[in-house]
Amino acid sequence: MARVEFADLERVVEAAVGSTLLEVCDAHGLPMETACGGFAACNSCRVRVIAGTLSPVEDVEEPFLDAPDQRLGCQARVVVDVTVRLDPGA
Ligand code: FES
Repeated sequence: MARVEFADLERVVEAAVGSTLLEVCDAHGLPMETACGGFAACNSCRVRVIAGTLSPVEDVEEPFLDAPDQRLGCQARVVVDVTVRLDPGA
């Protein structure tokens, strides 16, 4: 298990290592948008990493990332304690 903080939501939750951030949000009723249903085809689930780290960036994420600290919540997996904030793309 690892600690995942959603800074903008003022929520800290425990999550299984290997879970996507989208799975974590679904499990805890947190409002991550999923316009494409979690298939890396939109950027509504995008987050910014404030502290800590997530799984390596997947190739399918690259078109949606404008900055090095951005990730897609439906692809990025929990590996250690991490702090993020929601940063959905337009
Ligand atoms: S939910 Fe659409 S890219 Fe993640």
